Amino acid sequence: MSRALAYTHARASAPASTCYRVLMWEVGSLSETQLNEWKAARTELLGQMRDAGTKGARGTLARLSSELRELSARYIEEPLAARSTADTPQHLAPLAMALPAEESVLGWQLTTGYTELLAELRGEEGIDELLKRLKEATPELDWYPTPLVEAVSAAEATERLEQLRRDTEEADTGDDDDGNEALPFHHVTVLAHEAVDALLPAEGKVIVDATLGGGGHSELILQAGASVWGIDQDPAARRAARKRLAVYGDRLQVVAGNFRNAVELLRERGVEQVDGLLADIGISSPQVDCAERGFSFLAEGPLDMRMNPSAPLSAADIVNTFSEAEIADILWQYGEERASRAIARRIVQERTRNPFSTTTQLAELISSVLPRKGRQHPATRSFQALRIAVNDELGALEALLESGLSLLKSGGRFAVITFHSLEDRAVKRYFDRVTRPEIDRPEWPAPRPNPEYAARPVFRKPIIAGEAELKANPRARSAKLRVIEKL
Ligand SMILES: C[S@@+](CC[C@H](N)C(=O)[O-])C[C@H]1O[C@@H](n2cnc3c(N)ncnc32)[C@H](O)[C@@H]1O
Repeated sequence: MSRALAYTHARASAPASTCYRVLMWEVGSLSETQLNEWKAARTELLGQMRDAGTKGARGTLARLSSELRELSARYIEEPLAARSTADTPQHLAPLAMALPAEESVLGWQLTTGYTELLAELRGEEGIDELLKRLKEATPELDWYPTPLVEAVSAAEATERLEQLRRDTEEADTGDDDDGNEALPFHHVTVLAHEAVDALLPAEGKVIVDATLGGGGHSELILQAGASVWGIDQDPAARRAARKRLAVYGDRLQVVAGNFRNAVELLRERGVEQVDGLLADIGISSPQVDCAERGFSFLAEGPLDMRMNPSAPLSAADIVNTFSEAEIADILWQYGEERASRAIARRIVQERTRNPFSTTTQLAELISSVLPRKGRQHPATRSFQALRIAVNDELGALEALLESGLSLLKSGGRFAVITFHSLEDRAVKRYFDRVTRPEIDRPEWPAPRPNPEYAARPVFRKPIIAGEAELKANPRARSAKLRVIEKL
């Protein structure tokens, strides 16, 4: 099948048994005549295969099953591939969000023409139940009722997964190496020495910078002699960091991806355990400053806000397609916006007349609901909330917290810098959970050992920016650094 891009993903795990390869497409993607011809020829072939099976004619069976594959290729796969385009299939965003939760789905490719899945079913569930659930996740899509489902051997599935993995990496990293000039990237590193010193970098040590950004923290780590694996989901950041840190040669390895998959991303590169892990959560200044990225309510740009420009969901998708209640929840939960319901109501009224496409259009609507009070722009909290939702920032942080310690050697340090209370709360809770030797409950006669006890706090209280840093960089005022050390 052609490799028209798409939104592709391949998990690191290799299939152990037979898998299912599924092609789903929307009604209207293939003509009824084509589909009827396919069905008739398929029914005929399946009948012949049944007969051959009854007679035990193995040679005939093998020939017929390869004819069956050719038939699917001719009537389904090739015409669908010919229709698929390289556009990011925005309308498949709900499916792209549902797939990561489906453990049995090992890989996928979503295009505007068709969706391909590779699934290995390990539990009780059958493929029909899995497909039913995925269809339910996309109620607004009119899927053709009978997708193409074929069993493939573990070896064939592995080969296809390899291909998907290469496609994913190409989509993620292609823009790093396509000769695009790295644009100037001005990001002032926050709590630079505090965070880097806490990681104890030294020659021979390996440290993961899960939020490479402009490479500010990484540069200090490299200067101390350690090696760095720098992860970022933003191609512009990766380009800038590569350029800035080129003098350190192979000691810096840049990885495209989301830090929620840090363990998998490193394992795929042969790295199991490291000496330190740093995450400087949130966005970088260039992301906000570049109007085209759509993060800023002050500059006109597309209503985008994706840190990873090939991710499937943009801020415009949320405000134009989510229900009023869902929008209100996002604004309340992630922005603590007290006028969340009123803003959501106005968004839903407005979008029927005039769907949202730019940052200023949304900022003006919010300003019409909420008069300006004090210095803060009325859209500040809503924009923060949408950004967090678009990039699933809290979900990614939780995943990194839950998996981070497993990446560390004994004595390895885990440092996280956060910029708002929701993030800091998640870090504080998790660090408390794993640094407490014992847990106690009122109903217990005595405290019991904590089964999750795995680290010790390096500082009792979060580290915050000193006066000099605050003067030079007001953005540092809400930064909090917390660090633990694996036992
Ligand atoms: C605050 S900046 C890091 C700045 C960096 N420490 C420096 O000093 O230059 C955060 C960076 O993390 C990236 N980022 C945020 N969330 C991410 C995630 N879930 N996975 C990968 N990268 C992420 C952003 O694209 C951004 O470049």
